[in-house]
Amino acid sequence: MSGMNQETEAVEQAQPGEFAGIVGRHPKMQAIFEIIRRVAPTNTTVLITGESGTGKELVAAALHKLSGRSAARFVPVHCGAIPEDLLESEMFGHERGAFTGAVASRIGRFKLADTGTIFLDEIGEMSPKLQVKLLRVLEDGRFEPVGGTTTQEVDVRIIAATNRTLEKAVLVREFREDLYYRLRVVPIEVPPLRERREDIPLLIEHTLAGLVGQGLRRFTVAPDAVEVFQRYGWPGNVRELRNLLEQLVVLGRPEGVIEAGDLPAHLTAPAELAAPSTAPWHFGESGIDFYREIEAIEDRMIAQALHLSGGNKKEAARLLHLNRTTLLEKLKRKRQLGSPLAALLGESRRPTRAVSMDEALGVPPALGVA
Ligand SMILES: Nc1ncnc2c1ncn2[C@@H]1O[C@H](COP(=O)(O)OP(=O)(O)OP(=O)(O)O)[C@@H](O)[C@H]1O
Ligand SMILES: [Mg+2]
Repeated sequence: MSGMNQETEAVEQAQPGEFAGIVGRHPKMQAIFEIIRRVAPTNTTVLITGESGTGKELVAAALHKLSGRSAARFVPVHCGAIPEDLLESEMFGHERGAFTGAVASRIGRFKLADTGTIFLDEIGEMSPKLQVKLLRVLEDGRFEPVGGTTTQEVDVRIIAATNRTLEKAVLVREFREDLYYRLRVVPIEVPPLRERREDIPLLIEHTLAGLVGQGLRRFTVAPDAVEVFQRYGWPGNVRELRNLLEQLVVLGRPEGVIEAGDLPAHLTAPAELAAPSTAPWHFGESGIDFYREIEAIEDRMIAQALHLSGGNKKEAARLLHLNRTTLLEKLKRKRQLGSPLAALLGESRRPTRAVSMDEALGVPPALGVA
């Protein structure tokens, strides 16, 4: 096709299971590739949701790369990482003397992204004041720099991302409803890694090849280790997988093979979980304590579900076909009883990103734990 640029041709020729640098053979990933293909050439606003490390920024970059704007800049703004009062000037620029320390005027990221794409990451962290300003840029491409009176105009495609459930932020009025709908004209939900475990071998291969490209030694992962990788919950998603592989390669053995025995302890299930069922039970003279045995089985089942969900209780409850509140009550009771499960939970690793209890439970902060 004559209208196609080289980038697009390169993408079309790439091996299946990878699209614009995004690895994934799972149907949900294939569906995302199809949306990117269709939406990239348009100016439509896209809202990308997904847990930390799932590849939201990669999706945003792909939308830019495959658009007619690819010759201009792709400008990411990490809204959660910049203090609120600085964020406005970061996004829209400022005039000289706009605030203490503003010794010269400065252009913002929107201007920088003119004719290109701006990627607003962690959009849920944006203050109400900035939400209003953003809404206006979305409507007519206009804004005023901080401390400025002249209106500027830009031609920018806006892509936003969040790992918060924005619907909940809208419900508790932390996030403007009109802005929410204006942003999610096309929503893209990137699944957590634990929901597409079949992609793990592919991601391992892609990452190891990338590390060779960075001058590191060629490694392979033994089948027993791949199995452990596929069972683990990956709370930090693809980022956690990549970081772990880099660590294993850098510290790796001279043979260039990663085996199950080389993996950190938290990847393999705790010993209690691996214990086989105790059936048939040894009743002996005095019989067995029915309730205590049931309790022990429950503990193991819950611990395994929590392991598979990467510590996410909502997801663990789903795996167990329990209501989230039922699981929470069970955990609370077990903690009070001082069960071994509580000990296990107490010493369980923190996910690689900071997740509050509320977030892990999927509760918006303003509501608190139900
Ligand atoms: N499907 C994928 N294929 C290849 N690499 C991936 C994939 N998903 C994520 N990665 C890689 O994992 C790392 C994290 O991805 P990215 O920064 O896009 O995640 P994110 O969803 O934006 O995370 P956060 O919410 O923490 O900002 C990057 O190095 C990225 O290249
Ligand atoms: Mg990101």
